[in-house]
Amino acid sequence: MKPISIMLSALVIGMVSSAVMADGVSLTNATSLPNVSPANSDLANRGAYIARAADCMACHREDYSGGVPIETPIGNIYSTNITPSERYGIGNYTEADLQKTLRKGRAPGHQIYPAMPYPSYHGMTDEDISALFAYFQTVPPVEAPPEKTTHLPFPLNIRTLMLAWNVINVPSTENRTGLTQTQQRGEYLVNNLEHCGTCHTPRNLTQGLDKDMYLSGAPLGKWYAPNITPDNESGIGRWSEQDIVTYLRTGMLDKRAYAGGPMAEAVAHSTRYLTDEDLSAMAAYLKVVPIIQTDDKMIPVDVSRLPRPLSSSITYNLLEQKDYLAQAKTSVLSNSNPDNSNSPKSLYLSTCGSCHGVDGYAQPDARYASIVGLSSIRRDKPDALINVIAYGAKGALNTAPKMPGFSKELSHAQIASITNYVRVNFGGHSRSDVSATDVKRILK
Ligand code: HEC
Ligand code: HEC
Ligand code: HEC
Repeated sequence: MKPISIMLSALVIGMVSSAVMADGVSLTNATSLPNVSPANSDLANRGAYIARAADCMACHREDYSGGVPIETPIGNIYSTNITPSERYGIGNYTEADLQKTLRKGRAPGHQIYPAMPYPSYHGMTDEDISALFAYFQTVPPVEAPPEKTTHLPFPLNIRTLMLAWNVINVPSTENRTGLTQTQQRGEYLVNNLEHCGTCHTPRNLTQGLDKDMYLSGAPLGKWYAPNITPDNESGIGRWSEQDIVTYLRTGMLDKRAYAGGPMAEAVAHSTRYLTDEDLSAMAAYLKVVPIIQTDDKMIPVDVSRLPRPLSSSITYNLLEQKDYLAQAKTSVLSNSNPDNSNSPKSLYLSTCGSCHGVDGYAQPDARYASIVGLSSIRRDKPDALINVIAYGAKGALNTAPKMPGFSKELSHAQIASITNYVRVNFGGHSRSDVSATDVKRILK
């Protein structure tokens, strides 16, 4: 394919996905798969669904051309071109090659790094791998190498070292006994296809998944993937199965949770495309995984402590919202205290109010996140909120202008001040005493 036609096909893929994203917002049923075609065999179309459920695009790009950096403690590892190009991609793979790569990390001629989640894909069924194999034959080949490739220093560049690692860390999960058929399907989806644990399970000393701490939460660069075991205080024990389905379908759960950052990617590329049946199976399974309580506790949603929307229309009316914000700012500043421009409320209004609204309910129609009652704000630890304020949120799910980070504009004291204001006023905490020193420590 010539560069120009590659650009064109990239454009088309881009258009298709943003169109899907725009109507993906209010959807309650699975969106139709953009990469399914009646011209392809049933097997290939089933493979398109498996590719979504296994979230291959999140790392290999929408056109599977690769070059996405996966941050690891040993350095960036770049994903590869997995289009059927014989020269740059996997055009020469047999089905057996694909099986070995997905299950054991053994690509033809070289061992791959576990930045590719083969420790999870290890449990993929033969049928699903056949379907993936058929599907990848239908993907348009990209005749170019990825923009960036992996260069690790010696001895990390010795790929066969991974063989020893695999003995300890593959497979990354164990199958439970005594599950219903639905829960079993959920277990397969959560563990083997969706590989939720690669983000939500902490790592052991060798950087494999710590099975004893399964799904109990783990740091992820500037984000934290929270505890999703059914613990009431620190996990999602208070969520109903329907809540889990809604969140995985839309990335939002009113007054409860919002997927920004890496979780937004998982929803945008993968979970929102799953059938209701599969999402329900995952929810059913997540309700029965072993409960692990962590110290990342949160206060329950207490509606009586949360703000009421300022007016019934304001949340949906941008102009009214703008006037209201101007008035609120004036009234804070006209208060006689000379320090008021640096008061918590004034800082919130001038830094966050234009997008999240005076009352925190924002503009849901325009996909500015309502931040009232979010779990990131209700936790005892302010870390997640402070990181969002400092570094912003740029999830692929959202077509609204992205949230910028304020680490350069705001001092540690100002970030602490806004954090306390947001936690008390929109999170329902009775008090919040985050200091500038706390912010400095957390952002370090
Ligand atoms: C979390 C990120 C991630 C996901 C999800 C992911 N991959 Fe990968 N994949 C990678 C990375 C990184 C590499 C390169 C690893 C290396 O260089 O050692 C890779 C390598 C590969 C290779 C080996 C290519 C070669 O010959 O070198 C194949 C095949 C592959 N991926 C297929 C898939 C398929 C199919 C899916 C979905 C079922 C998938 N990947 C999902 C990150 C990912
Ligand atoms: C690429 C990493 C990544 C993957 C993969 C991932 N998550 Fe997440 N998840 C996160 C992060 C980070 C958050 C925090 C989101 C935020 O605050 O914006 C999160 C949040 C959540 C929450 C909300 C919890 C709360 O208390 O607010 C649930 C539920 C969840 N994830 C479930 C899942 C499930 C189920 C899967 C597998 C389908 C999954 N996640 C896959 C990173 C990930
Ligand atoms: C330019 C508009 C804009 C400004 C200014 C802004 N935000 Fe945001 N914020 C967003 C958008 C858009 C999202 C949703 C991002 C996404 O979907 O990826 C968001 C998401 C959030 C979230 C949810 C993230 C999560 O994953 O839990 C919180 C909390 C938040 N903002 C707090 C703040 C605070 C506090 C300020 C002021 C310091 C602020 N925002 C300033 C636009 C903005």
